[in-house]
Amino acid sequence: EIKACLFDLDGVLVDTAKYHYIAWKELADQLGFEFTEKDNERLKGVSRTASLNILLEIGGLTLDEAEKAKLAESKNNRYVEYISKMDSSEILPGALDFLKECRSQGIQIALGSASKNAMTILNNTGLTPYFDAIIDGTKTSAAKPDPEVFLLGAEALGVSPAECVVFEDAEAGIEAALRGGMASVGIGSPETLGAANIVVPSLQEMSVARLKEAFASV
Ligand code: BG6
Ligand code: MG
Repeated sequence: EIKACLFDLDGVLVDTAKYHYIAWKELADQLGFEFTEKDNERLKGVSRTASLNILLEIGGLTLDEAEKAKLAESKNNRYVEYISKMDSSEILPGALDFLKECRSQGIQIALGSASKNAMTILNNTGLTPYFDAIIDGTKTSAAKPDPEVFLLGAEALGVSPAECVVFEDAEAGIEAALRGGMASVGIGSPETLGAANIVVPSLQEMSVARLKEAFASV
């Protein structure tokens, strides 16, 4: 029986990928190389440090740890400027209705995000009160595809992994759910999220009835 839904944040509940992209692109401009929207796909679901390493690889740059720490900080400062102006209009279609429906049907809700900025985003968009547990990048030591973030979520809710469904837009996140022994719903395209139990274009196509139907045997 499904007792909890565990949500990724960026790309599932809110559209922050565009701000990550602009902030990384500004950094690439500053360093003197091109960074495209296609390149940005590689950074989805990936931690800040790992994202910077991918960016530098694209630019063909090798820097020492101290320089990298400075760049990561400067990118984050720009990103924080953008997200500090966010409001509820940037909640993705269908997300709020589905969170409300889960609550009204007694399904618990947790956040499982790699972001260290998750609280700023949840507070600015008004989403914080919907969560029974919040696990973000400040509480984890291993990045997705490691299942840690979701296992901590299940633990905080007092449910077993088999009673959870994970909602993710990143391949690494679906893999984390699988490794953690949890069912998963991919939000996006079946091409990248084929490992999920089901894939929907957005949370607009999701409902508790559909969830129960898809995971009837769980
Ligand atoms: C993930 C995003 O949710 O969080 C990644 O998909 C991002 O793009 C990662 O790099 C870390 O976020 P932050 O806010 O801690 O830099
Ligand atoms: Mg995501």
